[in-house]
Amino acid sequence: MKVVVTGSSGLMGSEALTAWHEAGSEVVGLDNNMRRDFFGAEGDTSANRDRLRAACPRFRHLSVDIRDRAAVSEVFARERLMRERLRT
Ligand SMILES: NC(=O)c1ccc[n+]([C@@H]2O[C@H](COP(=O)([O-])OP(=O)(O)OC[C@H]3O[C@@H](n4cnc5c(N)ncnc54)[C@H](O)[C@@H]3O)[C@@H](O)[C@H]2O)c1
Repeated sequence: MKVVVTGSSGLMGSEALTAWHEAGSEVVGLDNNMRRDFFGAEGDTSANRDRLRAACPRFRHLSVDIRDRAAVSEVFARERLMRERLRT
């Protein structure tokens, strides 16, 4: 299964991502590190993103603002297409 996790570098997202990955899924994480904008350097989640990248080989991170409807739609369209290509 392929799963999209939003806020994937944050507390809840990283736990969800890890659980799906352990269950054998391919995981696409959407996170633009907005937490850094909110809280400054102490809120930066990039180290968590990098840790997850190293630990989860079927995880891919995309820096997408989930408020950007067009960008999120494009992710779903592209990821679905990649899945169809894998089937053929
Ligand atoms: N932490 C908890 O115990 C808990 C429990 C229940 C529900 N929740 C809910 O889960 C959600 C996440 O909570 P959390 O504790 O993981 O927060 P968090 O701040 O640790 O993680 C949120 C992540 O989302 C990213 N993000 C924020 N705005 C974004 C945007 N516009 N586009 C892309 N990425 C964006 C941030 O960079 C961050 O990495 C919240 O809605 C929270 O209310 C949290």
